[in-house]
Amino acid sequence: MITLEKVAKSFGDLQVLKDISFTVARGEVACLIGPSGSGKSTALRCINGLEVYDGGVIQVDGQRVGAENLPSIRRRIAMVFQRFNLFPHRTVIENIIEGPVFSLGKPVAEAREMGMDLLEKVEMADKATSYPAELSGGQQQRVGIARALAMQPEAILFDEPTSALDPERVGEVLNVMRELASDGMTMIVVTHEMRFARDVADKAIFMADGYVVESGPAVEVLTRPQQERTRQFLDRILALD
Ligand SMILES: Nc1ncnc2c1ncn2[C@@H]1O[C@H](COP(=O)(O)OP(=O)(O)O)[C@@H](O)[C@H]1O
Ligand SMILES: [Mg+2]
Repeated sequence: MITLEKVAKSFGDLQVLKDISFTVARGEVACLIGPSGSGKSTALRCINGLEVYDGGVIQVDGQRVGAENLPSIRRRIAMVFQRFNLFPHRTVIENIIEGPVFSLGKPVAEAREMGMDLLEKVEMADKATSYPAELSGGQQQRVGIARALAMQPEAILFDEPTSALDPERVGEVLNVMRELASDGMTMIVVTHEMRFARDVADKAIFMADGYVVESGPAVEVLTRPQQERTRQFLDRILALD
């Protein structure tokens, strides 16, 4: 469903993505791992058109990601960030219905009904009329996921969705993501949560220095990496756990 072929991207003189190729099939969960600064966020942002890439091609179901179709690509591919990016002056339910009402033109009552169903799903229905500041980070992130789902995306890109959370809040967000994965959502997840990656991801892609160093079935890559570079990275991550 999502295909990157020889994707390249520079910021000025700095070439962040040199030759990135991978595919993610519909319903698949791919985890994207790699050292800080290796271009993981940039790759995600290129996929949903938040950044313009300057070489190669990205396709979503055969549709090229490019200037000519960014609104459609962004509607189809949602993104969940490390920071929750909720509108601070709007309640939880208002945050959820904003996209469906203003971007998709859904009637407010219908959007609200769907929004409440999504809040049930992430176990946040009782906080529908709270403001983001009244919620914990984990709760805000679950609302962030519900907000992404409200746009009925075909895939969701997660950029370190649990990195900004207190350790005791990480599990509740990963559980929501596990559930989405088992519902068949197509997901690309940048994460350092190796247990989650091993348990949930179908595929792992290890990036370093602008290249895909190694990719394959998650269990293979994460437990029996073929490349020394991957092995070193995983050893370092696991030592931090
Ligand atoms: N908008 C930008 N302008 C200039 N440099 C950027 C920009 N975004 C990212 N970079 C640089 O690109 C490199 C890769 O960043 P990033 O994709 O965020 O890596 P990762 O998510 O793997 O940590 C870093 O060196 C970063 O400083
Ligand atoms: Mg990043």
